[in-house]
Formats: sequence, structure tokens, C-alpha cells
Amino acid sequence: MRAVIIGSGYVGSVTGAGLASRGHDVVCTDVDTQKIDSWNGDVIPISEPGLSELVLKHRGKNLAFTTDLAGALKSAEFVFVCVNTPQKESGVNKGSFDMRYFDGSARTIAQYAGDGVIVVEKSTVPLRTAEYLTRVLESNMGGKRFAVVSNPEFLAEGTAVEDFLFPDRILVGAKSEDEWARRKMAELYSWVPKERIVYSNIWSAELAKLANNLSLSSRLTAMNGLAELCEVTGADINEVSGVVGMDKRIGASFLRAGIGFGGSCFRKDVSALVYLMEHYFGPDNPYSKLYSSMLELNDYLRVRFVKSMNYHLHSFGGKTIVLLGLAFKPDTDDVRDAPAVTIAKYLLEDGAQLRIVDPKAVKHAKGVFAAAGLESRIVESRIELFEKPDDKVFDGSEGIALVTEWKEFKNIDFAGAAKRMCKPAWFFDGRNMFDHEKITSAGLNYYGVGKGVFYA
Ligand code: NAD
Ligand code: UGA
Repeated sequence: MRAVIIGSGYVGSVTGAGLASRGHDVVCTDVDTQKIDSWNGDVIPISEPGLSELVLKHRGKNLAFTTDLAGALKSAEFVFVCVNTPQKESGVNKGSFDMRYFDGSARTIAQYAGDGVIVVEKSTVPLRTAEYLTRVLESNMGGKRFAVVSNPEFLAEGTAVEDFLFPDRILVGAKSEDEWARRKMAELYSWVPKERIVYSNIWSAELAKLANNLSLSSRLTAMNGLAELCEVTGADINEVSGVVGMDKRIGASFLRAGIGFGGSCFRKDVSALVYLMEHYFGPDNPYSKLYSSMLELNDYLRVRFVKSMNYHLHSFGGKTIVLLGLAFKPDTDDVRDAPAVTIAKYLLEDGAQLRIVDPKAVKHAKGVFAAAGLESRIVESRIELFEKPDDKVFDGSEGIALVTEWKEFKNIDFAGAAKRMCKPAWFFDGRNMFDHEKITSAGLNYYGVGKGVFYA
């Protein structure tokens, strides 16, 4: 089957390469010429396990990358809209999604798509977006037949290819009169076991996507809230969450407490729900307050981590601190809303020198710090970037803060690092990645979020 992807970012590229790997003919498009050049070049622009292999296997055969969306649309049976829908920071609808890229795509589809096209909402969108999309297509397609379906994406970065190819479920929301489109979607996803393909009304599908991220982030927020209580009472958050996760009604995932969630989606999707609740039920609606408190609490975790570091180091001015991690989670180069960026910013504002180590994300450091409002003079003079935790990274430093739990950090020789550091040397574990005894026996004092302090 012939599919066109609009937006070759994290979701679009994985969707495109994934569909190609299952035998479909796919054209991935983007407005960003540089990105398309790089998809056609030797080094693909996104770091995601397994993606490069799929792209190299299918590119030039049944997978193409181009900026020519108009040309690609002419023969498309499916058009997957995978463009970014970032949080809107100002103006009307502040807090909801910025739909400019999505709406722009709708206009182009209306102009160039052929008869019988299925337009797939893959981007995360506000409720009732399909209504707007349908109106734009109806008014501009000159009577050609089309269907709009909602097929939200549930993949997580770092495991995106696997999540796409072996999904828990594929959700297809469509209007009852578009039964033909539902059948074609099932055919497109024919490698997915039938019982995992779920059909719903189109509005349920749009809301289910937001509800999924609300559920994951709220259980994480609840567990993160207990971390501070653990620290003052002597309980250990890993032991607590481990027990809770063994309840099969709850399950073990998304209970790992630490410095909170980051990434491009939880914050913006929860914020969109705050907006929706206020829109439908007024500004004093208690649920919008609950959801927006979750975001405030998540921000607080980053501040609290820096305060704990400050308590033990006493001050940051002139001190060298090693930050292990920059990406918002391991196995991705994505730095959108990464806790590391906020934490680095606080440390720099207080005069620290930083050495940041990240296997994949350091290439984005300058851009992300500029976007966070840091002067380039500070970034140039006070941050050193490393892809590997070589010995010299630790020379003369006073503290190590682990903010992203890359498996590459497991093999650090902490005893060797401790010898190169100023004493007392501190290790601050923002992700509770290490057993405190491993660190203290290497000669570093250890602080873990929700675990407390252990001395070398
Ligand atoms: P992204 O920023 O990585 O990619 C979006 C791409 O769309 C960019 O390359 C951009 O240049 C391109 N684009 C913008 N306007 C365009 C246009 N008019 N025509 C063609 N290309 C255009 O974003 P992403 O992380 O892939 O997210 C895309 C959507 O999927 C968002 O709505 C997001 O909420 C949702 N989502 C993301 C994830 C994730 O883990 N990243 C998971 C599920 C859902
Ligand atoms: C998340 C969801 O997991 C996906 O299902 C969804 O499709 C996606 O958002 C989206 O809509 O974009 P993602 O943000 O890529 O995926 O990554 P997650 O694995 O969910 O991690 C999010 C954040 O939570 C990370 O900063 C991670 O470090 C943190 N986290 C996760 C914890 O702090 N503890 C945990 O136990 C799990």
C-alpha cells in the first residue's frame, strides 16, 4: 500500500521506516531541507535504536525521503500527518497545542491529494481536530472522496522502532460512515495481531492519546511525591516502589522516582488537558488545577535536586561539577524539556563550571542552552562537552550528578574518578541508578533521590 508521511521527525521517520519494513511503499516528507538531506545521507538525523538499520535497508527501494510533498501526495492511499504540535506559549489558546504545522499540512493535502485518500492524524492533537481537518478537506477537494481517521502514536523514544513494530495496541478512531477506511487501516497494519487493533469513535481516539500520557505521568508524579518523605524518615523509595509495582493491578513500570519526567510530550499533553478542562468547565475547575499541579510538582523536583546538591557542596561558585547525561532519557538524542538542561542552568547561574557527558545528545547542547536563554558567552566558557566519561572528565571536580541513566555510565571506574576529584567528593544520583554501596566503597559520598545520604 502507498503511504506518505508528513513530518520526518521522531514519529514520522519511525512510522515511515516501520511501514516500509512491512512491505509498504513509503515516501517521508519534511519542510526542513537539511533534515531530508540528512535522511538521504550517511548519518541519519535521529538517534533511535534500530532506526538506522531499517532506513538503510529500505531507502532507495520502498522508502524515500523528499521535500516534494505535493508530488508525493498525488498517488498516496494514506497520508500520515506526523508534524510537531508543540505547546502554545502565548496568545489565544495559550497552554494548548500550537496547530500551525498541522493546519498547514491540512491545506497541502486538500490541494494535492487524490480521490479516496485516507488522512491519518498521527500527531497528538486537541480534541475534535478531525472536525476541522474534515472541513478543510471538504471545502477544498472538489468532491473527491476521502476519510479522516485518528491513529494516535504511543511509541516512546529509545524503544520507538520496537514499540511501532510490536505495539500493545493500534488505535483506529473513525466515523461510522468511514467503515471502508477502517478496513484499509487494518490491512495496512496486517502484521499486528487482530486483537491488538482497537476501533473507537474518532473523539475517543483523540482523547485516549492524551489520557494515556496523563495516566503515565500522574502515577510517576504520585511516586515522586513520596521521595522527599522517604529521605526524612529513612524509608527507601526504590524499596517502596518495588513493592507497589509487584501488585499486578498496578504493575512495575513508570514508578521509578527521581528528578521527574521530561521529553516533548508529557508536559505538553497534560498542559493541553488543563486547557481543555478550563475551556469546557471554567478556570476554577478542580481537575484542571490537579493536572496543572502535577506540572508544578514535576518542576519542583528539578529545583529540589539542585538544592540537595547545594546543601552538600555548600556553594557552586567556581566549582567544577560533572553532569552525567543531557538527553531527557537514555537511548535518545532528544533534549526537549530535558531535566538536565534546567539543572545545568541553575548550576551555571550559581557560578559552577560544568562538564556534561552524554553518548548521543551533546551535539544539541549549544542549541538547547541558547533556547533556554543562556548567553553563548557562558555556554562557551563554562561548559565542556564529552561523549564518553573518560578519566579526565573527573579531574578536579567536586561533584558528579547523574541526570540520565545511560547504561554506558555503569562501567565508570568510580574509584579512579574519586582519586581525581576534590575531597569530599560527592555523587548525586538523580535517577537512583546505582546501589549506594558501590559508590561509597569507591570513595564518594552518595545522595540518592528518595534514598538519602550515605557517606564514603
Ligand atoms: P519532531 O519535531 O521530531 O518532528 C516533526 C517534523 O515535522 C519536523 O521535522 C518538522 O520539520 C516537520 N514539519 C513541520 N511542519 C511540516 C509541514 N507542514 N510539512 C512537512 N513537515 C513538517 O516531532 P515528533 O517528536 O516526531 O512528534 C510529532 C507528533 O507526534 C507530535 O504531535 C507529538 O506530540 C506526537 N508524538 C510524539 C512522540 C515522541 O515520542 N516523540 C510519541 C507519540 C506522539
Ligand atoms: C512518552 C510515553 O511513554 C509514550 O507512550 C508516548 O507515546 C510519548 O510520551 C508521547 O506521547 O510522546 P517518551 O516521552 O518518549 O514517551 O518517554 P518515556 O519513557 O515515557 O519517559 C518520559 C519521562 O519520564 C523521561 O524523562 C523518563 O526519564 C521519565 N520516567 C519514566 C521516570 O522518571 N520514571 C519512570 O519510571 C519512567
